[in-house]
Amino acid sequence: MSSVILDNKKTIKTLNNIAESGLKIFNKDNYTIDNESENPDAIAVRSFNMHDLEFGDNLKAIARAGAGVNNIPVDKCTERGIVVFNTPGANANAVKELVLTSLIASSRNLFEGTTWARTLKGKGDQISKHVETGKKQFVGKEIKGKTLGVIGLGAIGALVANDALNLDMDVIGFDPFISVDTAWNLSRTVHRAMTIEELFANSDYITVHVPLTDDTKGMFNEKTFSIMKNDVTILNFSRDGLVNESDMAAALESGKVGKFITDFPSEEVLNMKNVVPFPHLGASTKESEENCAVMASHQVKDFLETGNIKNA
Ligand code: MLT
Repeated sequence: MSSVILDNKKTIKTLNNIAESGLKIFNKDNYTIDNESENPDAIAVRSFNMHDLEFGDNLKAIARAGAGVNNIPVDKCTERGIVVFNTPGANANAVKELVLTSLIASSRNLFEGTTWARTLKGKGDQISKHVETGKKQFVGKEIKGKTLGVIGLGAIGALVANDALNLDMDVIGFDPFISVDTAWNLSRTVHRAMTIEELFANSDYITVHVPLTDDTKGMFNEKTFSIMKNDVTILNFSRDGLVNESDMAAALESGKVGKFITDFPSEEVLNMKNVVPFPHLGASTKESEENCAVMASHQVKDFLETGNIKNA
């Protein structure tokens, strides 16, 4: 640990709950945590939308305790010389576990089965008779031997791909940003799709792990759905905006998309029966919140004390 004593105490402001294990990295000799400050030296944030915020003159760094930075006005920060950090990989395991859990749970109709089973309340000694009906209604599918398409093979996508292989799925990967061959050493048994269309056409399940950019916005749309297999399951634990939600509603209605598992509930599809919505739970584990807070706090502390910019 550094024993630097700064000339002036620095002020850190948090805009969302940042785990205590991260905040305690800011030792009291050098730092004040002040969430009311109008002019902090650094801000730590999770999903809070910062686009309309005024920045004080002292602001030098913003740390996003998470992967996506689309809640931060990065261009404005660049113009003002404010460094933006994120915490790549710190929540990857949490997201991976939820992707695979919900993929299996939805294939086995567990979400619908649970909701239905609760309706048996009050049936008394007739419950076991009714259970037979549910058993027939919610027959599921095994994922073994099915093809999972993973779009984006960064920290999260690579973990998902490898664990899906361990679950005996066939895995196709496509990454719009990674072109070098070494990236594919994550697993020799992930089939590398040369085009995203190839992945769309051959996958039974598709999970997306890319940031929201001008290029990825609306990448799931009427045109791309038309390339996919009928009854495909799509999982979005990355960002809203990747999916054109009205086109998704039509694809769910027609049966082209069999199930849509999403961490970003939208008006268009929320109440459709083949949609499994979550309230942005992908990274919401105690472990991941701590990992992100610790990584973000170290990045900011290091930068304020030494000028080092290390986004890891
Ligand atoms: C992320 O971008 O890593 C997540 O949105 C983190 C979060 O849920 O705060």
